[in-house]
Amino acid sequence: MKEKSQDQKIVRMKPLIAANWKMNKDIAESKEFVNRLLKLVDNSSEIVLFASFTSLYILRTMLEHSRIKLGGQNMHSEEKGTYTGEVSASMLKDAGCEYVILGHSERRQYFHETDETINKKIKVALKNKLMPIVCVGETLEQRENSETESVVKNQLEKCLKGVKIKNVVIAYEPIWAIGTGKTATPEQAEEVHKFIKGMYKTRIIYGGSMKPENAKELLSMPDIDGGLVGGASLDAKSFAEICND
Ligand code: PGA
Repeated sequence: MKEKSQDQKIVRMKPLIAANWKMNKDIAESKEFVNRLLKLVDNSSEIVLFASFTSLYILRTMLEHSRIKLGGQNMHSEEKGTYTGEVSASMLKDAGCEYVILGHSERRQYFHETDETINKKIKVALKNKLMPIVCVGETLEQRENSETESVVKNQLEKCLKGVKIKNVVIAYEPIWAIGTGKTATPEQAEEVHKFIKGMYKTRIIYGGSMKPENAKELLSMPDIDGGLVGGASLDAKSFAEICND
């Protein structure tokens, strides 16, 4: 693994560490998490909590005077209308969000989201001044067939068509590493991040079983600018450990 020089450390932005709670934590649990987190985290990362929709507003009031930001886990591609059960970009803004996760592999798999829909959503998010975290990544089969780069490139080209990259974060999340306990090695992740950086000059964060035991090494790679943390973000102590790395 490459050691970073002191100078490189100084010029690098703080890592962006995002907690993706998925369909977990009711309001009481969300409040308890935030109370604990505020006592545990230092200033070394930028932090975003992707809480459930129902917890966002109350967390907004709790986090008002902190540096911790909020995000939505999804939103609809239309700005308003007859879409029962959906949440719009302006509703997320209104509830206190500055970020939104778009194109998560679980949304692609279980809710059949396509790159085209994700592209529409990204444009609507930006129009509403939400910073999208756009997720891409390959399946195990695609990796084994040496298709990782072509899959990721194709997803990004379609998702980011006509989009100004400056206000977008990309999350590289190999599907085989999500919720499986299998993490990409720092070298495997860095290889893909470097490939993406060659095409898009923006922040690229890694997701897929990031936890306190592997976060430091992953985050020390030159092109890994942060993490999107699922399972390990449900516990304030383990999430804080990742943030404080
Ligand atoms: P995981 O989830 O950390 O539990 O693998 C990451 C994600 O889905 O964003």
